[in-house]
Amino acid sequence: AFELSLRPQFLSQYIGQDKVKRELGIYIQAAKMREEVLDHVLLFGPPGLGKTTLAMVIANEMHVQIKTTSGPAIEKPGDLVALLNELNPGDVLFIDEIHRLPRVAEEMLYSAMEDFYVDIMIGQGETSHPVHFELPPFTLVGATTRAGMLSAPLRDRFGIVSHMEYYAQDDLKEIVLRSAQIFDTQIVEEGAFEIARRSRGTPRIANRLLKRIRDFAEVESDGVVDRQVASEALALLQVDAAGLDYVDQKILKTMIELYGGGPVGLSTLSVNISEETETVEDMYEPYLIQKGFIQRTPRGRVATPLAYEHLGYPCPLD
Ligand code: ADE
Repeated sequence: AFELSLRPQFLSQYIGQDKVKRELGIYIQAAKMREEVLDHVLLFGPPGLGKTTLAMVIANEMHVQIKTTSGPAIEKPGDLVALLNELNPGDVLFIDEIHRLPRVAEEMLYSAMEDFYVDIMIGQGETSHPVHFELPPFTLVGATTRAGMLSAPLRDRFGIVSHMEYYAQDDLKEIVLRSAQIFDTQIVEEGAFEIARRSRGTPRIANRLLKRIRDFAEVESDGVVDRQVASEALALLQVDAAGLDYVDQKILKTMIELYGGGPVGLSTLSVNISEETETVEDMYEPYLIQKGFIQRTPRGRVATPLAYEHLGYPCPLD
């Protein structure tokens, strides 16, 4: 309930992602005016930016229920049929990590999305026969971290496609202030800004850091989160001045110390830092690229001069 209350319930409470909000707001209002089901929505973006929250907001705004699952949770077609069978007209089915849906389940979604039916095989061997299943009209909200990993037939069946971006610092600061209010934590503007500045553009990270910094403030100080307390706690948490955490720093150090700055392949790099390739690719690399610490080249990843400078290594070009 605690976590849930942090989530905004309506678009008007949702901070940031202005472009996504403006578009969705129009499509939601239009669907309601016509008393139609909202078209299927595909949300792209790195982890922690609020894709699940947005799916819940869509359901709230449409005054319908939401059923939530994820690609890896659906192992066989029957798992998907069971979920579809529980939907009421207009409901939202949210599938997180939709790029990890098994092929047979994905193919079943095509007719479900387009014409609201599925054909399933019942029984085995001689007695096996297809059964036609009508579904209520519903809205599929799919979320994925990777644009490239979704098959074209699935992607093409979403009428609404939204790309989420890393949050601007001012928006993250507002989110931190809002969360502090929900936690009943005293915070000053500069404290909130310090957290925002060092949260990699990601509300999930900002809220997690806020919780730890609040612990620190209560135990080591007077409970008020100001810039000084935030800085001291962030040092303890090994979050550096640019907001890079321990894993980010390890990625850059490995590239520089073991591979002369690269190029180095993603899987080689991942093995070295004991993380899954997918985790590095989805959670760490996009921000390091956006901040100019890493470049992708055809031959692998390269640490930039900025990375050398940031970590205090002499630049190899000098
Ligand atoms: N908490 C987490 N993300 C949020 C957002 N985008 N707006 C408001 N509160 C949030």
